[in-house]
Amino acid sequence: VPDVPVADVQAHLVQLQRIAEANGGNRAHGRPGHLAGLEYVRSALDAAGYTTTLQEFSSGGTGYNLVADWPGGDENAVMMFGAHADGVAAGPGINDNGSGTAALLEVALTVAEQDPRPARQLRFAWWGAEEVGLVGSAHYVRRLPADELERIDGYLNFDMIASPNGGYFVYSSSGQPEGSAAFERLLNGHFADAGIETEPVDLAGRSDHAPFADAGIPTGGVFTGAEGTKTPEQARKWGGTAGKPFDPCYHRACDTTANIDPELLGRTTAALAAAVWTLSQEDG
Ligand code: PHE
Ligand code: ZN
Ligand code: ZN
Ligand code: ZN
Repeated sequence: VPDVPVADVQAHLVQLQRIAEANGGNRAHGRPGHLAGLEYVRSALDAAGYTTTLQEFSSGGTGYNLVADWPGGDENAVMMFGAHADGVAAGPGINDNGSGTAALLEVALTVAEQDPRPARQLRFAWWGAEEVGLVGSAHYVRRLPADELERIDGYLNFDMIASPNGGYFVYSSSGQPEGSAAFERLLNGHFADAGIETEPVDLAGRSDHAPFADAGIPTGGVFTGAEGTKTPEQARKWGGTAGKPFDPCYHRACDTTANIDPELLGRTTAALAAAVWTLSQEDG
């Protein structure tokens, strides 16, 4: 698995913040900053050789999903990785979810640079309108013809992966579609190899994996914490401050590039890259 420099991911975050600043301060659904952010992501993917599609939908404003396929691989064994690219209106949304947006972009660009000749077809998605109720990802799943849905082997989600007082949470597979446990094991195994302790988290349908899970597709993901409070035990194992939220700027104007822990960002990006590489090489 190639190293993905965290500085490259942070450079995308700087751009996403600039884009928000140039568009009224946010990248929210139905606001110009959302589309401008997606255009930034799309132009990098197009230049790298991806086949990209912008899927438009309407939900109290026009929303967009950006889907990028890496050419090659078994189209009957599609592996998907996604992050929501919209934010709340209060601020630039850099941890939520510039972090997932930027890590996914940089890992996708690394795939293009290295071309691991995936056995599976790799598909990356940047969802719109997550913040108004998982609208973009639900729209995508609902619109996919049944035969295309059947070809999707799994979906991994990356929403808030560099929280400034964060921890390492891996989506729990309990109660999730069969096959999800393999993703939980894979992600936990990667972190364990890196000497990092994780905790399972039940996200109760609070992010874009939920529409996929509802459709019976195995899901998983990584999360570093939102408005929840870090316990003393978590502070002992991960560092940071007990009694304070994982992300004190959650859904606030202060969710800027200063609201990112670069150490966590590097570690979670590495986990994403490891998952892409491993899952690309398994056959259907
Ligand atoms: N999806 C929530 C949001 O974007 C944040 C969240 C992510 C909450 C993951 C729980 C788990 O605001
Ligand atoms: Zn790069
Ligand atoms: Zn949010
Ligand atoms: Zn989010």
